[in-house]
Amino acid sequence: MEVKVITGDIVSTKADAIVVNLFEGVKRPGGATGAVDKALDGAITKLIEQGEIKGKLNEINIIHSLGKTPARIVAVAGLGKQADFTLDKIRALTAEFCRSLRKLNCRRIATIVHGGGVGGIDPEASSQAITEGSLLGLYRFRKHITKEPENHDIAETLIVERDAAKLKVLEQGCKKGQIIAEATNLARDLINEPANYMTPSDMAKTAKGLAKTYSLGLTILDREQMEKEGMGALLGVAQGSRQPPKLIVLTYKGDKKSSDTIGFVGKGITFDSGGISIKPSENMAEMKGDMAGAATVMAALIAIAQLKSKVNITAVVAATENLPGGNALKPGDILKAINGKTIEVVNTDAEGRLTLADALGYAIKQGVSQLVDLATLTGACHIALGDICSGIFGNSQELIDKIIKSGAEAGERLWQLPMYEEYKEKNKSNVADIKNSGGRWGGAITAAQFLSEFVGDKPWVHIDIAGTAQTEKENGYTVKGATGVGVRTLVNFALAQAK
Ligand code: BES
Ligand code: MN
Ligand code: ZN
Repeated sequence: MEVKVITGDIVSTKADAIVVNLFEGVKRPGGATGAVDKALDGAITKLIEQGEIKGKLNEINIIHSLGKTPARIVAVAGLGKQADFTLDKIRALTAEFCRSLRKLNCRRIATIVHGGGVGGIDPEASSQAITEGSLLGLYRFRKHITKEPENHDIAETLIVERDAAKLKVLEQGCKKGQIIAEATNLARDLINEPANYMTPSDMAKTAKGLAKTYSLGLTILDREQMEKEGMGALLGVAQGSRQPPKLIVLTYKGDKKSSDTIGFVGKGITFDSGGISIKPSENMAEMKGDMAGAATVMAALIAIAQLKSKVNITAVVAATENLPGGNALKPGDILKAINGKTIEVVNTDAEGRLTLADALGYAIKQGVSQLVDLATLTGACHIALGDICSGIFGNSQELIDKIIKSGAEAGERLWQLPMYEEYKEKNKSNVADIKNSGGRWGGAITAAQFLSEFVGDKPWVHIDIAGTAQTEKENGYTVKGATGVGVRTLVNFALAQAK
């Protein structure tokens, strides 16, 4: 779908549907909504009086114009209480009305800029949010469905603004929103892809294609090279599968004058069966998404490159399956990671931290100055925070705060969990330097503590997206399946670092 900004009058815009809005409690709409009301001979005002249109948040009222406007449908979108209005509500609302209009067979829709007037929202930011909301909300993963969809895709969304002087900023917001939303949808595509279509080799192939399209540096290490690097932890996880592991390194140099490089590291388990410590079969299919962290860092890098952000980034993804093959890791096995530390594997299902240990260590070897990792790491994080926010941990409060802020701007919520020394006790092994599971209690924290052993003295943040990477329900701009969570946080972080 294409999103475009045009100057003009929403009333006379040629589209299948035009979208105006209303704050809760408003009895006499003004502005664009008032103008459309007039064209409809007061229908909106009448419906407000009759109590049908209330302006409640995400309420979508459909009015058929029956020839009174060029558009056959006028949709009135409820903005909720004016005092509670935010940018993220624009994203969600836009997604909701776009999906409603798709169900009504609209191919071309037009909307005004929401929140710009009394809403007090910056027009550029609103335009970006509308663009993101429509692209994210209309996303669907139909690659493997051979039947045509009941409702075809919306081909075009127009953002209509009367004031020609605003065109430029609205276009800037729209362009930025498009890049970020498309990157998020790219991450969703990679995550939604089943494991038989997204093996470590498929991930490497995807990275190769992206590197070429967006002129990024690319290195892919195979098993032999991993051995040379001493990546015993990653190789240990990979040994249970017939699919060869791939260590994928994508680099973006947006600031050639600086030697500072941010390291993005993503968990890339293309399928997590648990290995010999096998998972129950119920919901195991969800583990095709255990490479969400990897997809997220790759997609974020693509957006950052397109936005020509003035930063340097090295993204490292350790891609492998975790399967219980004849050669698989066994509980009790001891592995040696890239930094020389030995790890007792007490649970082969705690595989993510093993692969991340080597990926983080490799990023450090590449000379990154700070690290951010994203991983569907622990069920414990899902239990602690539900699917509302991701867990954030780290060894640098400054970096943690920066990333929480970058997330908040994007409507992605991060909640910090503690890293008290006492938790480290749980990871102590009798036979190796550390063990790969500290047990059930505080499992998200002990997992983070484990990772902290592999980042040296670099400022580092770990984001656990186990609860937020996939969803079972459609809500605002998230749809069933992969959410693409983290892409927008990382992009905002890179943009903030560039400033
Ligand atoms: N990939 C899982 C974590 C996960 C669970 C992600 C549910 C998304 C949804 C991870 O590899 C795992 O299995 N973690 C174990 C660790 C335990 C064995 C210490 C867990 O959380 O149960
Ligand atoms: Mn696991
Ligand atoms: Zn896993």
